Amino acid sequence: MTKPLLEIKELRTSFFTDDGIMPSVDGASLTVNEGEVVGLVGESGCGKTVMSLSVIRMIAHPGKIVSGEILFKGENLIEYSEEQMRKIRGSGIGMIFQDPLTSLNPVFNIADLMATPLMLHKKIDRKQAMALAVEMLAKVGIASPEKRIMEYPHQFSGGQRQRISIATALALNPSLLIADEPTTALDVSIQAQILDLLTGLQKELNTSMIFISHNLGVISGISHKVAVMYGGWIVEEAPVKELFTNPCHPYTKALLEAIPTIEGGDRRLKNLPGQPPTVGEVIPGCRFSSRCPDMIKGVCDTSPPADFITGEKHRVRCHLFVN
Ligand SMILES: Nc1ncnc2c1ncn2[C@@H]1O[C@H](COP(=O)(O)OP(=O)(O)O)[C@@H](O)[C@H]1O
Ligand SMILES: [Mg+2]
Repeated sequence: MTKPLLEIKELRTSFFTDDGIMPSVDGASLTVNEGEVVGLVGESGCGKTVMSLSVIRMIAHPGKIVSGEILFKGENLIEYSEEQMRKIRGSGIGMIFQDPLTSLNPVFNIADLMATPLMLHKKIDRKQAMALAVEMLAKVGIASPEKRIMEYPHQFSGGQRQRISIATALALNPSLLIADEPTTALDVSIQAQILDLLTGLQKELNTSMIFISHNLGVISGISHKVAVMYGGWIVEEAPVKELFTNPCHPYTKALLEAIPTIEGGDRRLKNLPGQPPTVGEVIPGCRFSSRCPDMIKGVCDTSPPADFITGEKHRVRCHLFVN
């Protein structure tokens, strides 16, 4: 589990809008080892999706990868041609999204949606592709897959659609799966089923995974290690148990306190007044300083903190740990 599969190094992806520049991912580094599940957590707007879309080079104008490296199996994807990237997307790195309707084109039936990429990437004929697609649909728990494969995305429930997008991504046997809030749009009862399904398949296929959520509770059961993102930075990273027992960054602590409970419903980030950074805002110090309960005036608001190693495999980007 210690061989790196994906190494994101000092990645910077910005949006150049009429209102100013938004450094959505602002020098973030993250490593995913073979067979490892990395949970990426942070409030809405912190840069999780932009970071994952950067990895598969799907950032559209006015966004641009400004600097950094994205090493996949040791090769820098930033230097890849569009044709090379097409091969990586799908068969190297698969992605599933929050709303499967955006990834499952409504004008095609499931047979076309699944068989076409399989034929292209695996160089197999339609009959073989259909057989593989049916097998994968059965694996993700779609009943009567031979019949249902002829139906269209809108004929399935939200949970079933997410099962189909998981089947579609995993049929190509990618080394890495990026699951971007795959359960956020689903009912709570269905969320647990999809999480179980993903965990089971990840173990069975030994696929590495980046599992993204805004909810630390969702991430805890599925991840080996957790990276906490805030304002385009990775502010803390640690093995999951370590993060829960010994959180260091004030933002991580606030997230832990805000994990929704079954009785209490969704709890707000109660100790955190204010808003995350916005477009055009220039922040000289720590991006979290304006909301941080432990902010040191003249330090945190004036210079950005560096990463600090607080323990084995545990790093935190916070001035409180530097001294
Ligand atoms: N197409 C876009 N144009 C301008 N800004 C964008 C665009 N997409 C994302 N951003 C900005 O980048 C930041 C990070 O967005 P995103 O990665 O989608 O957040 P998350 O997935 O963590 O909720 C947000 O502040 C958002 O406003
Ligand atoms: Mg997102």
